[in-house]
Amino acid sequence: MNEAELLELDQNLNWHPCSQMKEYENFKPLVIKRAYDSYLELSDGRKIIDAISSWWCKSLGHNHPELKKAAFAQIEKFEHVLFARTTYDVVVELAQALSALLPGLNKVSYASDGSSAVEIALKMSMHARYLQNQPQRTQFIALKNGYHGETIGALGVSDLGLYKTPYNPWLFSSVFIEPLYVQNKQDPRWNDATEHWIAIEKQLAAYTDTATAIILEPIVQGAAGMKIYSQDFLKRLSLWAKTHDVHLIADEIMTGIGRTGNMLACEYAGIQPDFLCLSKGLTSGWVPFSVVLSTDPIYQLFYGEDEGNRTFAHSHTYSGNALGASLALATLKIVKRDQLCLRAQALEPILEAHMNEIAEKTGALQNVRAIGAIVAADLIQGDGKNRKLVQKAGELGALLRPIGNTLYWLPPLNIGLDTLEDLKDISLEALKGTL
Ligand SMILES: Cc1ncc(COP(=O)(O)O)c(C=O)c1O
Repeated sequence: MNEAELLELDQNLNWHPCSQMKEYENFKPLVIKRAYDSYLELSDGRKIIDAISSWWCKSLGHNHPELKKAAFAQIEKFEHVLFARTTYDVVVELAQALSALLPGLNKVSYASDGSSAVEIALKMSMHARYLQNQPQRTQFIALKNGYHGETIGALGVSDLGLYKTPYNPWLFSSVFIEPLYVQNKQDPRWNDATEHWIAIEKQLAAYTDTATAIILEPIVQGAAGMKIYSQDFLKRLSLWAKTHDVHLIADEIMTGIGRTGNMLACEYAGIQPDFLCLSKGLTSGWVPFSVVLSTDPIYQLFYGEDEGNRTFAHSHTYSGNALGASLALATLKIVKRDQLCLRAQALEPILEAHMNEIAEKTGALQNVRAIGAIVAADLIQGDGKNRKLVQKAGELGALLRPIGNTLYWLPPLNIGLDTLEDLKDISLEALKGTL
């Protein structure tokens, strides 16, 4: 099949995610031939930098040789069996590694992608209330601008109209509270949310007896446009939840496994949630695979004779998938061995300096913000520029995907500094080309 035929068939048959298909008529998708490290190789032989780690998941880049080896080794044995009344080495070793991430989170459940992990956490909180005979605790609390995926439950606790508005009549209603946003960790509000907290605590007071859980993306709200918020705010919110017997669900699907410079973003606030969701970087984006970590007290509610709907009867076909588990295990070993949390910390000032340079040279960006291997800035007059920017960057050699008016990079944690330099130059040229 030649490229023209491929593109025509793609246009006629495929319905791409989060895409207005009409735009594909004259803004053709990139045809990928190979991918390796931080690069995508196109059918015309050009290589372009994957500046957003393919929707934030390729934390060790593409085609990592050790991950390939781990996948093949598992495939030689078996690729998947059901995970009910079976077990195997990789899923046990993975549980050992995951249960050591944060004190108290020592029970591991498996799902297939980010949204399905969020659904499990929401349902476990609801089911716990059922088992504890607390029917009044039905209210979910979430953060303004939060995003937790696009299944119906996840949308109910998300706050981004782009993904949510058409479905509003069918979603359960959550209470949304405003995080205290900061520019970076040097911002004084990072360590002091006192004033902001006064109003939040008042708002929360109405839900002390009716809330079941607070769900949040710790420290960075990705889909909101890489918004960073105060670790002190998170600490206070967590304390409030503990004080009032409200579960805390940490959605670390984007932030987890080194992305923010800690293994988990929760570590910034020193908090211990009741549920923690991981996916994306957990397997370095090799296969759809996610986990929900929970605590012994939660687990014990469900443990006992199989009566009165005590069992968590949630049965994903691919729960515990052996291939995913082997890749997650190998990813965790590499992240630890190669000290990639430290690497993300080291990238932070470099990414920030690069983005600041673009802001200074173009005068087109404001609110440059960075944490770990994430940097973002807002286009001062963004309207209508996005598509041109993406197109231009693609021609020059980088895959960018601004969120609304926010330009950001979220590269593989092991990206080379020379590649980052190239990414800066390409983004600068692309942005100049849109002005
Ligand atoms: C914080 C967060 N939660 C949940 C999800 C949903 O994950 P998935 O797209 O794998 O369902 C995402 C995806 O971007 C996310 O960033």
